[in-house]
Amino acid sequence: MKLFVSFFGMVCLGLAAAFYVGFGFLFSGQPAAQDEELVEEERPYVLHFSHVVAENTPKGLAAERFAEAVQEKTDGWVDVRIYPNGVRYNAQEEFDALKENEVQMIAPAFSEITRHDPNWYIWDLPYLFSDEAEVQEAFEGELGGELFHSIEQRGFKGMVFWDNGFKQITLDRSFVIYPEDAVDSRFRVMPSDVLHETFERIGGTTETYPFNEVYQRLGSGEIDGTENTLSNIYSKGFYRHQDFLTLTDHNYLGYAVLMNPSFWKDLPPAHQEAVNEALEEATAWLREESAALNEQALYQLRYQEHMHIYDQNELEKAQWRRALQPLYEKYSGIIHEDVMEALPAAESPYAEQGPHEGS
Ligand code: LMR
Repeated sequence: MKLFVSFFGMVCLGLAAAFYVGFGFLFSGQPAAQDEELVEEERPYVLHFSHVVAENTPKGLAAERFAEAVQEKTDGWVDVRIYPNGVRYNAQEEFDALKENEVQMIAPAFSEITRHDPNWYIWDLPYLFSDEAEVQEAFEGELGGELFHSIEQRGFKGMVFWDNGFKQITLDRSFVIYPEDAVDSRFRVMPSDVLHETFERIGGTTETYPFNEVYQRLGSGEIDGTENTLSNIYSKGFYRHQDFLTLTDHNYLGYAVLMNPSFWKDLPPAHQEAVNEALEEATAWLREESAALNEQALYQLRYQEHMHIYDQNELEKAQWRRALQPLYEKYSGIIHEDVMEALPAAESPYAEQGPHEGS
């Protein structure tokens, strides 16, 4: 009799637990509260996503859209947690964190990737792409494929390219219209040898500081100028320490969304599909909106009384291309030839006077 009572008690307890877990899920639409005894596959997947920019920028907003879409498509079974503004890692630390699976997704600027894969130098060659359409052609064509293939050999899974926009130059004391205008000025650049050499070749000096430190370094006078997109210049307040903005469009700031390959492999196929769809949606949204977000930032910058803004013309750009021609020659020998050859024909850096001369 005793044996029967304890057996009956256990059955009741089991039914109550199943009822609790099952109904918790049905009514909330979320995974039921998890407890330590549940096996690993039954827990929601947590995807930590680190990036270094402000939330109200092209990348910051795309990351949020992505997270919402994943939440919706997986009913909360994949939980994307975003860490913006470099709160956990600066851009270079993010690569180690991704390798160690401390975060599962990052979206570094192309120039940051050059530290891990020199083929990505291609984006930093000055004035190589002259408009957004050329950049999109490169993302979607052979060049994008070659670069993702190349980064996968280094242990990162390339998911999609994200847009920001063309970079502009700010300085505290004057415009940088002609190459000689950079002489003796100290610029903060991202850690790409091409960027360092670009400014050094025209007489400037360069420092690499993490994005988060730029505002303070400008304020303390350790650097005189920066190159960045309008949305970054505005959202991080760089303009407060800079009176001159030259609209140079000298190269493109884009991002590669990278994933930890083991995390990706362990994700069930239905979740992989949901993540891919969410990325496609966020990418399409960004493609439509990034130019407008940079335009809005320009509008805000024009509104600052202390700011002088100059739009560099094609003849002035041609002078830069001429001065920087040796860079195209040098880096064509460093970037793998398959990557160089994947460049859409219009952007060939081999032309004697540099790309788009006289255009
Ligand atoms: C930088 O200058 O470090 C930025 O462009 C970073 C970013 O991710 O946009």
